[in-house]
Amino acid sequence: MLAIIGGSGFARLAGLGNARREVVRTPYGDPSCALTHGEFDGRPIVFLARHGYGHTIAPHEINYRANVWALRQVGVTQVVAVATVGGIRPDCVAGCLVVPDQLVDYTWGRRHTFFEGADQPVTHIDITWPYDAALRVQLLEAARRCGEPIIDGAVYGCTQGPRLETAAEIARLARDGCDLVGMTGMPEAGLAREAHLAYASLCVVANRAAGLGESRCGISMPDILAVLEATMGRVRTVLAEVARR
Ligand code: HPA
Repeated sequence: MLAIIGGSGFARLAGLGNARREVVRTPYGDPSCALTHGEFDGRPIVFLARHGYGHTIAPHEINYRANVWALRQVGVTQVVAVATVGGIRPDCVAGCLVVPDQLVDYTWGRRHTFFEGADQPVTHIDITWPYDAALRVQLLEAARRCGEPIIDGAVYGCTQGPRLETAAEIARLARDGCDLVGMTGMPEAGLAREAHLAYASLCVVANRAAGLGESRCGISMPDILAVLEATMGRVRTVLAEVARR
């Protein structure tokens, strides 16, 4: 079964048929919200709002372990994580859709593994390629069938937030090879891998990252919201096409 994790600007999935909510408890505490089960273009899916339905949970406060565990517990095998990002690479401009293929983690202090505690063996999962190759292709092909331009491949740099970055931090991320910057890609991707879930991300570029282009002098939240508002219909179209297959 497919799950969609919705990020900023995407706390609800319009058009979900026969929707019902399920409160799931996990050994790691409560997920961000009740899971929404429903049918998306005929196929059963599960939706989870990463920041809660009221968008009240900051990136560093999200219980990523509970979210991933809850999805696995209800039988999810594939996760498409919708994420809002800033664009660093010149072609990653506001309104672009991007399917990243790599990730650099700059977060700290987040509970980022299921393999800890006295009863757990030390386990080092392989995350050379953090996103599931087959699910990435499903996303890219769905976008192409819908006629939605989409960028195949980018390095997602995950910062701690909730503040945005300084221009110097973005310059450093660029030197590190990051093409996108967001705040929620990790530990979500690592935990999904630990839980044996196929995980891929559909990123929506909301703004040029700090110090770049129209963000040279600052980042405007109203502009970000306007971009997200204008883009979310396209995201929904692509997700419906992924669900259809
Ligand atoms: N930085 C980090 N996260 C973001 C940004 C950004 O510029 N835009 C949207 N999410």
